[in-house]
Amino acid sequence: MHPHLKEVLFTEKEIESRVKALAHEISTDYAGKNPLIVGILKGSIMFTVDLLKALSIDAQVDFMDVSSYGNGLSTSGEVRILKDLDTKAQGRDILICEDIIDSGNTLLYVKNLLAHRGANSVKIISLLDKPAGRKVKINGDYIGFEVPDEFVVGYGIDYAERYRQLPYIGIFNTDFLIKD
Ligand code: PRP
Ligand code: MN
Ligand code: MG
Repeated sequence: MHPHLKEVLFTEKEIESRVKALAHEISTDYAGKNPLIVGILKGSIMFTVDLLKALSIDAQVDFMDVSSYGNGLSTSGEVRILKDLDTKAQGRDILICEDIIDSGNTLLYVKNLLAHRGANSVKIISLLDKPAGRKVKINGDYIGFEVPDEFVVGYGIDYAERYRQLPYIGIFNTDFLIKD
């Protein structure tokens, strides 16, 4: 375990098996629909790639970079588009792929935006859900794991751009907070 973590929540193997189960569900539900998987940069990189690899149906992938956190520990509520889709949303069955739903601000914004652009359907898959963090009413359609009200990192999820590379997910030890 990385020395800046307090505890491992989900091992590499546990994540792998949960992602495969989710991919199986998606492959059934979206058979013949050629869904557009929209990964939200950067936190969802690992999950998006692993999910794609485990799908048994045709699908396409695109990315949006939407940020609401900056380097702080709590959400600002402000959502900014840093990179938009290259693909037209019109008429597509879109599955937004996230690493974590916390306040819900990011996903509420992206979901409304893509629906407004005329997508045929917009659903959400998130590896993690932190219900205690919710500030707006939004829920995932497919969830990997529920997490407690702690700061989690790893498998794409950062604190101040660190720890994304870890192949497992754990609780950040706040003794290692960066002070300014
Ligand atoms: C994090 C995380 C989710 C979002 C969840 O992204 O990856 O996208 O915050 O929080 P919310 O439900 O309160 O909106 P962040 O904005 O930190 O960007 P990153 O993915 O590049 O780390
Ligand atoms: Mn993110
Ligand atoms: Mg972040």
